[in-house]
Amino acid sequence: MAAGGPEVLVPATVPRPVPLPTEVLVRVHAAGVNPVDWKIRAGVFPPGGLGAHPFTQGWDVAGVVESGPRVTRFQPGDEVFGLLWFPRQAGGYGEYVTAPARQFARKPASLSFAEAAALPMAGLTAWQTLVDVARVGAGTRVLVTAAAGGVGHLACQIAKHRGAVVTGTASAPKHGFLAGLGVDNAVDYTQVDVSTTVRDQDVVLDLLGGDHTLGLLDTLRPGGLLVLTIGQVSPEVTRAAEARGVRVTPFLVEPDSTGLAAVADLVDREAVRVHVEHILPLAEAGKAHEIGAANRTTGKIVLAVTGT
Ligand SMILES: NC(=O)c1ccc[n+]([C@@H]2O[C@H](COP(=O)([O-])OP(=O)(O)OC[C@H]3O[C@@H](n4cnc5c(N)ncnc54)[C@H](OP(=O)(O)O)[C@@H]3O)[C@@H](O)[C@H]2O)c1
Repeated sequence: MAAGGPEVLVPATVPRPVPLPTEVLVRVHAAGVNPVDWKIRAGVFPPGGLGAHPFTQGWDVAGVVESGPRVTRFQPGDEVFGLLWFPRQAGGYGEYVTAPARQFARKPASLSFAEAAALPMAGLTAWQTLVDVARVGAGTRVLVTAAAGGVGHLACQIAKHRGAVVTGTASAPKHGFLAGLGVDNAVDYTQVDVSTTVRDQDVVLDLLGGDHTLGLLDTLRPGGLLVLTIGQVSPEVTRAAEARGVRVTPFLVEPDSTGLAAVADLVDREAVRVHVEHILPLAEAGKAHEIGAANRTTGKIVLAVTGT
């Protein structure tokens, strides 16, 4: 594909990748779709792009191990899932991928391939921000923005599982969904100004960025932490955070089999459930991008690569 609209996503025949020692070759059954996918496709992220076009998009996969030279963790036939190579090209929308074995974890036994493919980027973003960065625990007051989306719905559940008091923002029709996730306070951002309605948060997971970030600083208690998942922290936000006595950190998700296994464990123990709103065939990847870019998805969008 070249950068452009959804129409640039076209089927292509490419060589099957060959795994190096320590890598596995995985037959992809399903591929998760994330906002970064349509931002990359449109050429707006990252600056300079991912390299020469055309290439195969996608980072989230679930599938079956075919081979793995000198790999000890997995055997052919094992069901795995992973966030691969991010932010380098990974070719996750392809029929086969190769990546280091330690970028994969075992697929949660309770999930279909489509459900498992929905988890890696969103689940790792939630886990790494809340657990590794913000160290959310019992009683931590956490504001999750875009709480009904892919990252948000998993973040709410992970935070609740760790004993946090969770406030989530979503439009009113999604407040029932948030209640099902265990969210303590649902805020309809279309009706009220979140920056003046929510107060005294220890942690804000900012999944909106842009103009929203400055206002979200006002929801923090002194010393509280905002984790910004979109772009860099602007000088204006840095100055405002200093003036308010709050902290801001930028965040970019990383491949992480340990975090993935932790999320898988929560799923298998039914502490976290993944919600897949749309499953489309790979041939409709452009339509999947269009749906996602409308910014209204509840949970996740997944491409079924092999029809499972
Ligand atoms: N830095 C990183 O490593 C990283 C990793 C993953 C994702 N991200 C970024 O995080 C953002 C969220 O990702 P995602 O996968 O969760 O997106 P998503 O699933 O596409 O988010 C869709 C949700 O956003 C909600 N929403 C839209 N505008 C809102 C607003 N103003 N306030 C509250 N909710 C709003 C919608 O709910 P309503 O219909 O109720 O509006 C919808 O449920 C994206 O920009 C993505 O690129 C960053």
